[in-house]
Amino acid sequence: MTRKTHTGLTLQDLRNDVIGIDTMVPLLDGSERSYVFLDNGASTPTFGKVMDCIRSFLPWYSGVHRGTGFKSVVATEIFDRTHEVVARFVGADVKRNMVVFTKNTTECVNKLSNRWGFGPADVVITTGMEHHSNDLPWRKNAKVVHVGIMPDGSLDLEGLQDAIRRHKGNLRVVAVSGASNITGICQPIHRIAEWAHEADAAIFVDAAQLAPHRRIDMRPDDDPGHIDFLALSAHKMYAPFGIGVLVGPIDFFEQGEPDMVGGGVVDVVTLDEVIWKHAPHKDEAGSPNVVGAVALAESIAILESVGMETIREHERALLEYACTRLRKIEGVTLYGPTSDFAGRVGVIPFTVDGMHHALVAAILSAEGGIGVRNGFFCAQPYVKKLLGISKEQELDAGCGVGDGDRSGTPGMVRASLGCYSNEADLDAFIAMVDRIVRGDYKGTYRQDPVSGSFLPEGFEPDLSKYFPFFDSVVPAKNRTYSEAS
Ligand SMILES: Cc1ncc(COP(=O)(O)O)c(C=O)c1O
Repeated sequence: MTRKTHTGLTLQDLRNDVIGIDTMVPLLDGSERSYVFLDNGASTPTFGKVMDCIRSFLPWYSGVHRGTGFKSVVATEIFDRTHEVVARFVGADVKRNMVVFTKNTTECVNKLSNRWGFGPADVVITTGMEHHSNDLPWRKNAKVVHVGIMPDGSLDLEGLQDAIRRHKGNLRVVAVSGASNITGICQPIHRIAEWAHEADAAIFVDAAQLAPHRRIDMRPDDDPGHIDFLALSAHKMYAPFGIGVLVGPIDFFEQGEPDMVGGGVVDVVTLDEVIWKHAPHKDEAGSPNVVGAVALAESIAILESVGMETIREHERALLEYACTRLRKIEGVTLYGPTSDFAGRVGVIPFTVDGMHHALVAAILSAEGGIGVRNGFFCAQPYVKKLLGISKEQELDAGCGVGDGDRSGTPGMVRASLGCYSNEADLDAFIAMVDRIVRGDYKGTYRQDPVSGSFLPEGFEPDLSKYFPFFDSVVPAKNRTYSEAS
């Protein structure tokens, strides 16, 4: 199949193409409004063109790598090519590097950590600002050193350089996020790569938050700033069909045993012996997610048509627009550097004085039709640090440990942008935050101590009105909004 290319798409084309851009959602006062989606850092919506592409692929959908029928031949060819499309998107030298498809970034980091073969003295350096997915998988298999955070939420780069020098000899990997999912701060990944390489270590970049917003160039393998390993998730890139991407050297994946075994990974099996397939097949156990791979390749073509530089500048301007206005609202605290917008992707973490983060998020949704996220965002150490929670308070900071009561769990509210976001989205959001701060909201909200969430009294929209297949797909006839939350 020749991959259809897109030419000259604009940001407005993307917005018009977002599935659900004008979906109406219910508000507490009985009215409806089109949803303002500001939770793109969690998962983005889908481009219509991605769905079109999947539809045109589905008649060819078939098992890959095993079937001999024509559909299987077509599907296999498409699936194999998608690996290279993604590798080129991140600037990997495809002669020496390859893509392994996984479920998501979390699985990528686990795979890399499990596949490394760490010895007892081996060290991985990561940072205090990582998503748990770029921290806990390393803790399972190696000694982990966490580099600290500066008062403005940025990474202590001197501390990082110093830690790299100190651990030279035992240091195997420096694992950093390309962009933080809390403050959006982007790391100087190529400079960090140089430091890691000087210490004979590799760099892994968690690009889950970087890839949707910035052009990535892993650079040639002999470049001192070369990125050795990188991971991303398609559900944050407008193609939410369950696929993740791990990029790394072919040699690395050729050596050793796969961490997950079964069908698809072997050439020869006897009752006593196994001969593994070549990479990447030996690391893609079971039937792969062919539809997810096609969707991601199409989404990449769409993003590239608009241009990652255009997306970067658009999001920078939106971030500045929002932060400048939010900063003027007394009672709102923003986290992270609020002057260097070029060095951040579009994530806005904030709290409102004297109000629980979950209450703010609940009002935004029920009275503004605005979707954000609240809590720790899977980065507890970083959020606690930004909130000034001491080490002593950290363990039982009302996190429901012990008595299961989460009503006092600390946290923040996070609004996160996509390439299709616009000023109107932000105006609606900022106006609603302003109302919340002034106490200008209507509902009476009660907190569920077990989840820590707030729910407005008397707000029980009929979900089946919004998703026509509700009853046939999830036939729980008396399910209410509060039970579903
Ligand atoms: C920076 C970062 N890393 C890793 C992850 C984990 O991604 P996934 O849930 O797709 O595995 C996320 C998800 O939000 C993230 O923001």
